[in-house]
Amino acid sequence: MLKKGELYYPDKDFQKKAWINNKKIYQQAEKDPVKFWEKLAGELFWFKKWQKGFLHNPPYFQWFVGGKINITENIFRHLSDKPALIWEPEPVNEEPKILTYQELFKSVNQLANALKILGVKKGDGVGIYLPMIPEAVISMLACCRIGAVHTVVFSAFSPSALRVRLQDTKAKVLITADGYFRRGQVINLKQNADEGIKETNIEKVIVVKRTGNEITWDNQKDLWWEELLQKQSQECQAEQMDSEDAMFILYTSGSTGQPKGIVHACGGYAVQAYWTGKWIFDFHQDDIFWCTSDQGWITGHTYTIYSPLLNGITTLMFEGAPDFPTPDRWAQIIEKRKVSIFYTAPTAIRMFEKYGAHHIEKYKFESLRLLGSVGEPIDTAAWLWYSKNIGKEKCPIVDTWWQTETGAILLSSLPGIGPFKPAFTGLPFPGIKVDILDKQGKAVSEGEEGRLVILPPFCPSLLRGVYKNPEKYLKTYWSQYGNKVYFTSDSALKDKNGLIRIVGRLDDVIKIAGHRVTTGEMEAAVNLHPEITECAVIGIPDEIKGEVPVIFIVTWSKKPLDKIKEEVVGWIKKEIGPIALPKEIYSVNDLPKTRSGKIMRRILRKLVTQAAAKGEKEDLSSLPSGEDLGDLSTLANPQSVDDIKNMINQ
Ligand code: PRX
Repeated sequence: MLKKGELYYPDKDFQKKAWINNKKIYQQAEKDPVKFWEKLAGELFWFKKWQKGFLHNPPYFQWFVGGKINITENIFRHLSDKPALIWEPEPVNEEPKILTYQELFKSVNQLANALKILGVKKGDGVGIYLPMIPEAVISMLACCRIGAVHTVVFSAFSPSALRVRLQDTKAKVLITADGYFRRGQVINLKQNADEGIKETNIEKVIVVKRTGNEITWDNQKDLWWEELLQKQSQECQAEQMDSEDAMFILYTSGSTGQPKGIVHACGGYAVQAYWTGKWIFDFHQDDIFWCTSDQGWITGHTYTIYSPLLNGITTLMFEGAPDFPTPDRWAQIIEKRKVSIFYTAPTAIRMFEKYGAHHIEKYKFESLRLLGSVGEPIDTAAWLWYSKNIGKEKCPIVDTWWQTETGAILLSSLPGIGPFKPAFTGLPFPGIKVDILDKQGKAVSEGEEGRLVILPPFCPSLLRGVYKNPEKYLKTYWSQYGNKVYFTSDSALKDKNGLIRIVGRLDDVIKIAGHRVTTGEMEAAVNLHPEITECAVIGIPDEIKGEVPVIFIVTWSKKPLDKIKEEVVGWIKKEIGPIALPKEIYSVNDLPKTRSGKIMRRILRKLVTQAAAKGEKEDLSSLPSGEDLGDLSTLANPQSVDDIKNMINQ
């Protein structure tokens, strides 16, 4: 990479080979974004071409109207003996698996036929609750093959989290596994699945044998994956899907305990997943791409699976934690598999950094040519460390901004053009119009922070709705600036070059190690504790994980505090899962409230950050210094602030 001031550029060789290396693409796209996307869409295989590129009926819109497509027909244009998937298991002594495009195709068809026999039809929901194993890819593609709508649930989510998702989609079939490995332990996933399907419409459970642990079995419901697939033909016609048919629903945290089912459409999703991979990751035929995200998140859907496979390249999937059994496990995998593009979250980068450069001194990472970052803001220090120690100062870094709702990347510098600036995601992808507005809807000036919005015609892969909840769709995304402007809930700013920096969320979403959780859903979980009268959850900055939750509870229980804290953790695990575990729990007499009864979480956040800045809590010492607490006279109970301050500082 070449450095000019604070900006970085790809070197000549990278530029020359990149798909896109001429800035003109931006002007071409801007002239007529719909025409531009139509041209791109034309490179995919459609059973029938669309009649209209874009149709806007605010707050709804459609892309490639009348077109017929199936994403699997586009993936299996590349039928060959080339590896589609390299799977690395967690146990170091276990054999990895490599599936060629041919092999993947056969298994997808077999499962698709099996699903049909189980009564799954086009438009039906199917739940997928699997660890990072090849069967997860096969399951998702098999659903697409027959037009079933998959809902993937992250395997570390709790049975309750699985249940609310299955209840919402009314899926009749669930695909799961007996267990999986996590840091050397076997986790009994089937047990969680059995618990999670209670009070749902699930009639059949397909079980992959992964760990061979003991599980309970229901002859009426449960079917072994192996046995089911063996009997099926390896051929299955792809369903012709309308461009606007739902392809999948992926749930993301809601402001209450009820998650939002984000609906993605077949045509637009396929087009944008394909092209963002091709241009932002510069996929070439011999690339080995490793996106570290679990398929349970949108990043796993789009960039571990759909985008690389649509582009006919090899995707790598790793079952375990990147630092198990040794801190350099991830580095070993990059070297062993000759990974050429590595895409991960800033939390992972900061974790590698904390382990120390000596862990990776011996690795040259010669195969790497491009790096990516996603999911949370990457700070300058982590960016520079990533560039120096992993990219060896030769790999461009694409910092990609997007959301579960956008389905694919919207902001990122293109690697063959640049510029790359630490902590800035860069420019919008060609054909995408965004703006940064103040509260009144006026564009902010250069360097000023405002609200990031997406303007018509948006992008082909933007969500088409919140499943069964049109009010939420309208209120969350299309009401801040009228129904023709998509509100991202992110705060951002632009520099003099037009490069965009994402500052953070404006709503109650916190990103814990890049995972999206709302303080509202955590509060809903904690409030289920029968002895807790009220609670407040705040997100505070964390050196490694970006953000972590801190919980304040008011309880009348006479139990020892440690016991109550343990129970609170239990409720979080039960309702959400281990990703949302708090950094600290404080039991207080009262929470600061306005006279109308609103809990002032802002004050709580300031109290915690102030305490940390004073160095009174060493482990929080990375936090920015606390600001003035502001006017407390409007509080109904100002005394609560002093009480809490004393408690935190104890
Ligand atoms: O706040 C932004 C942050 O993650 C949010 C979306 O989270 P989720 O739906 O889980 O999708 C994550 C993976 C695409 C955004 O509203 N975010 C995502 N990417 C970045 C980011 N923040 C800063 N920089 C990024 N590159």
